[in-house]
Amino acid sequence: MKIGDMDLKRSWPALAGIAAVVAVLATGFAWTSGLLGQRVTSTTFLEDIPHDFPAGYRRAHGKGVCFEGVFRSSGAAAKYSDARVFTQPATRAIGRFSIGNMSPYAADNSTSTVSMAMMLTADNGQQWRMKMNNEPYFVTRDAPGFLAMVKATAPDPATGKPDPQQLGAFLKAYPEARKYLEADAVKPWASSFAGATFYAIHAYYLVAGDGQRQAMRWSLRPHAPFAAWSVDERARASHDALFDEVAQRLKKSPLYWDMMMQLAAPGDPVNDPSQPWPQTRLQIVAGTLEVQRVFDQTDGMCRDINFDPTLIPAGMALSNDPVLATRAGIYAHSYNARLHEIGYGNATDAVGKKAPQ
Ligand code: HEM
Repeated sequence: MKIGDMDLKRSWPALAGIAAVVAVLATGFAWTSGLLGQRVTSTTFLEDIPHDFPAGYRRAHGKGVCFEGVFRSSGAAAKYSDARVFTQPATRAIGRFSIGNMSPYAADNSTSTVSMAMMLTADNGQQWRMKMNNEPYFVTRDAPGFLAMVKATAPDPATGKPDPQQLGAFLKAYPEARKYLEADAVKPWASSFAGATFYAIHAYYLVAGDGQRQAMRWSLRPHAPFAAWSVDERARASHDALFDEVAQRLKKSPLYWDMMMQLAAPGDPVNDPSQPWPQTRLQIVAGTLEVQRVFDQTDGMCRDINFDPTLIPAGMALSNDPVLATRAGIYAHSYNARLHEIGYGNATDAVGKKAPQ
């Protein structure tokens, strides 16, 4: 036997040990990233959202318009948080109105979900980013529940209606979804972005200079009255009715929303976005947003922002809501994908260029 063979024989247990460690790490990595097993991850989540629109667009809420404005603090939140945005009189706001449909080409009457995203940048450089819908709470207690809801409520091609068995199984696994689905079925649609209330839905903490934490949820409540969009009006509406309407309004005057903060009482759940807190909880008006103008999303000012709702300023803290954490992961993947497409020159109308004929 040669010396080399002798060495190999002696090293065999060590090599086997190393191989076992590598195998365990590789399996762990594959599981964590969703390559192995049925686990829902932020990547598998996006793969479950098929899209057939061209490069450079958001994987959801693709149709949108940028806005610019200013947030004026009332000073009321400064008692609970030392974030600069609550003491600075006026903070620049960049945002985006969008509709819930995934496609950038969707008609405005294709969904009842209207949305606002916003980034506030204080004079100390601290940013607060947010994404809000016109729904006061989330359908399920966790993000896999949302995926399960999408599947369970999808129309069966044979009947055009959701499969009752699948729906039943979903409601058994996620009983909290019943109140959302029932409310969603009868909720009036908003006929304008201007009169819609936008909810952040997750709990966050306001953190004071002495470290005291107060859990809260915020929403943006419009000064313009809510006007419902009837079935008839929706049927007759033009393709871009909502976006045209908000642009027309802003030609005449700015639009305003009060930032309402609902303060939690001890024991209110902070980790479950499907459980609204009682209406009787103290509400403060933290400030007022003035939206001054809208402009095309192709120009990049809001197009290339990830309005990640976990990006908050010092003086605020995240709750341990699992949906909030999952959203951050999903948004990062969507953002990376669309910026990659733009950066490599593959995007056309998403960046205001004509597609080659
Ligand atoms: C787990 C459930 C959810 C999934 C899978 C999901 C998925 C997505 C994706 C992929 C995008 C595109 C992001 C980008 O490229 O920047 C997006 C945008 C958006 N989402 Fe979600 N989302 C979820 C929950 C929510 C909730 C609960 C809200 C509101 C409270 C919300 C509000 C928005 C808004 C406003 C936008 C547009 C943001 C913009 O204008 O940049 N989403 N969503």
